[in-house]
Amino acid sequence: MTEITVRSPATVSNVVCGFDCLGFALESPYDEITVRISPEPGIRIVNNDDFGLPTDPALNVAGVALRALADDAGVGHGFEMVSSKRIKPGSGVGSSAASACGAVVAANELLGGRYSRKELVHFAMAGEELASGSRHADNVAPCIFGGFVLVRSVDPLDVVPLDCPPLWAAVIHPQIEIKTSEARALLPKDVPLRSAVRNWSNLGAFVVALEKGDTKLMSRSMVDEIVEPVRGTLIPGFEQVRAASLAAGAIGGGISGSGPSMFMLCETRESAVAVRDAMDAVFLETGIDFNTYVSPIEPNGVRVV
Ligand code: HSE
Repeated sequence: MTEITVRSPATVSNVVCGFDCLGFALESPYDEITVRISPEPGIRIVNNDDFGLPTDPALNVAGVALRALADDAGVGHGFEMVSSKRIKPGSGVGSSAASACGAVVAANELLGGRYSRKELVHFAMAGEELASGSRHADNVAPCIFGGFVLVRSVDPLDVVPLDCPPLWAAVIHPQIEIKTSEARALLPKDVPLRSAVRNWSNLGAFVVALEKGDTKLMSRSMVDEIVEPVRGTLIPGFEQVRAASLAAGAIGGGISGSGPSMFMLCETRESAVAVRDAMDAVFLETGIDFNTYVSPIEPNGVRVV
């Protein structure tokens, strides 16, 4: 085999109470990425979309992730990657993670599957570091594993896939730009102990709620005193979207990753559609362009098509 195409899903990270350590995969949107073995050494990137991402592999998240894998594998050949992105860069639903993960999963298939999923997460984190200046795995781990994933540690990497009931997400993407690096620079360097206690209590409870399928406990646990109060101010209509979504039946939700997208978890597709409609109604009032999605949680991560 010298060529393979994969589908790489969007992801929601942080999930309100798990900043930098919790995320889940969405069935849609997703990117399609083709990787080929090329006889010439090095990495070549072709963009088959209109996003204008860099084709210099040293400046491209998928390029640096592929480089990390190729260096570790010590391959004598090169890789060519054709990226057909549907996940808008900077949207807050793991666009850079989808690129990096799709590239390394596809390359690994071409190398006969020599790396584990955890090792692939490690390579994909090189892309996150390029995109945001930080080696976090709360998008790349769910992108590769699927479902909900807790990242207990990035160094050494310790990834904990979680059981969860069937859930849906409604996502709204306001067409404004928030750079992850800037959204991270705003965050407090020190956290009051009382707020830290509340956050780790909520994260622990949320994980138990997922595993038990206890949506009421999930709902009570989706609270964050540390990150969202700062970042929420960057997103017009943030509190109104949350209030309208909860009134329409959402389990809970908040900022997706570093924004500007917002997500709401829901028990059924019907509920997610009602929540999406409630989000739409809030945003129509703001005059800001937006897109909305309804998607089930994607259980398997990047897959070959
Ligand atoms: N956990 C990261 C953040 C996700 O919130 O900054 C964005 O890449």
